[in-house]
Amino acid sequence: MSTSNLNIPDISSANIPVQGDIAALAGGQNFVPDVAMIERLANELFAGVPGKLAAYSPSLGSATPPRNNDLAFPLTGGDPLDLHLDTPHTHSPQLPVTSDWAPGADFALAPNLDASSYPGEDVLRDLLKDNAKEHPKMTGATLYFLDEAARFNRNPSQASILQTASVSQAKAAVGQIPTSAHPPFDVLSVRRDFPILKELVNGRPLAWLDNAATTQKPQSVIDRLSYFYEHENSNIHRAAHEIAARATDAYEGARDKIADFINASSNKEIVFVRGTTEAINLVAKSWGKKHIGKDDEILITHLEHHANIVPWQMLCAETGAKLKVAPVDEDGQILLEEYERLLNSKTKLVSFTQVSNALGTVTPAKQMIEMAHRYGARVLLDGAQSVSHMHADVQYLDCDFFVFSGHKVFAPTGIGALYGKPEVLEEMPPWQGGGNMIEDVTFEKTRYHPAPSKFEAGTGNIADAVGLGAAIDYVQKLGIDNINRYEHELLVYAMGALGSIPGLRLVGTAKEKTSVLSFVLDGFQTSEVGEALNKEGIAVRTGHHCAQPILRRFGLEATVRPSLAFYNTHEEIDRLVSVVRQLSRK
Ligand code: ALA
Repeated sequence: MSTSNLNIPDISSANIPVQGDIAALAGGQNFVPDVAMIERLANELFAGVPGKLAAYSPSLGSATPPRNNDLAFPLTGGDPLDLHLDTPHTHSPQLPVTSDWAPGADFALAPNLDASSYPGEDVLRDLLKDNAKEHPKMTGATLYFLDEAARFNRNPSQASILQTASVSQAKAAVGQIPTSAHPPFDVLSVRRDFPILKELVNGRPLAWLDNAATTQKPQSVIDRLSYFYEHENSNIHRAAHEIAARATDAYEGARDKIADFINASSNKEIVFVRGTTEAINLVAKSWGKKHIGKDDEILITHLEHHANIVPWQMLCAETGAKLKVAPVDEDGQILLEEYERLLNSKTKLVSFTQVSNALGTVTPAKQMIEMAHRYGARVLLDGAQSVSHMHADVQYLDCDFFVFSGHKVFAPTGIGALYGKPEVLEEMPPWQGGGNMIEDVTFEKTRYHPAPSKFEAGTGNIADAVGLGAAIDYVQKLGIDNINRYEHELLVYAMGALGSIPGLRLVGTAKEKTSVLSFVLDGFQTSEVGEALNKEGIAVRTGHHCAQPILRRFGLEATVRPSLAFYNTHEEIDRLVSVVRQLSRK
């Protein structure tokens, strides 16, 4: 390998120990390189690799010395044991998925880079080999970062996809990848938290690309449910015994977590419901019946899921109100001028989605809410497809209601949440009557608890609420910003790769979009594409996605809809693209 034209640091002066130094470093004792040293060595080695991987290399002009989280291979969690050398692959390198990596990024396209070795690699490999002899527990240790770097760099299919012209089209369609540096997202490590991702389907590894329909559950959520049933199971709020107190604490603790997750000002603003559909029906039946009358108007958008259309149609049918629909452009983005034209003093409620389940469009929610408030309307924001991908800060957005389903954010099915501003919830009547929601009952009169209890009649889905709390913990630990960045890169990559297939039409190309890749393929029913993908272990939804009006807006009755989550990989996208490309050639 010719290195003369590369910015390779002088390893001999880079404080990297060579074998002869080991005994001295260890004060004559057997030397086991610690985590910090391995990490530093890795980063110093990569400083010699051309391209963006060496983002923090002093030789490439990094202004400040790296902190742990700035390193190309940081320790996550801050627990030194986390990277203990007897646990191979505890941390996988994220070469293909750092923000600096992108289809077409110069690392991937670096000319003449012979990836068969990296400067100093031999020293590091020998160092580990020697110490493994002394420390049998270390025999599983691998220089995973070097192996993975080489694997990626040598992968010809990656390289060819990276160079397709459609990558630039995709970039233009969905915006530029942020260039700010950030810790890499450890997708291979994250995947190990989801047991179902190890499944084989038709003899192939499962690629779960149906996340808009439902998400998979991490082990921590599965374990939390078991723990609840093994140690805490009881009805809540009602008994004098220890187990009821545990169950009540767990349930109310989950409510706190939801409030924190969406930045509500108090847990009293969070009502447990079965999911988004039930939350919207609750608002329609309680708030809607009280506030919507004949000739009032309810404004939704063309993007809405059936769950955000049908309850309002039912309310209009009952009250004589009118349902208005804000249109979208050819990319699937709301036409804001048209939206504003539809607002007037008769508009009592605006209800719209933060992210379209069929197209992935991210709506300009804050702006739309502000505009609706100017006309005195209340606003319900449907967060079913947004909460797992982006910040949903109800105080910042200033929505009056926010609704989401647990199962779309790595929690169990049958549980979700309705957020309402306190003054709005306070004046809403209960929508169902029963136990748990009352303060006092006589045959003459019943007094209700304040919100949220007055909306939670009967025994709720206690265990799954607790599971939702655990799912939120999991997401918070990963960090929604990290998730968002990683998924955006994956989306750009997938849009570029799919968009390059002849005869494939991407449906939903809004500049602001997330996680959803709807498409149709010339000459094929969507179900045929879905079947071909399923044969290869790739799960996608085909059909109308419970959003018929928006598909018809594009002249379609169905699409194929791969949809992403943070545990999906570039390799899974490659598999998807390869199957669809093969079909397109038929
Ligand atoms: N709302 C879910 C979807 O979009 C079921 O697939």
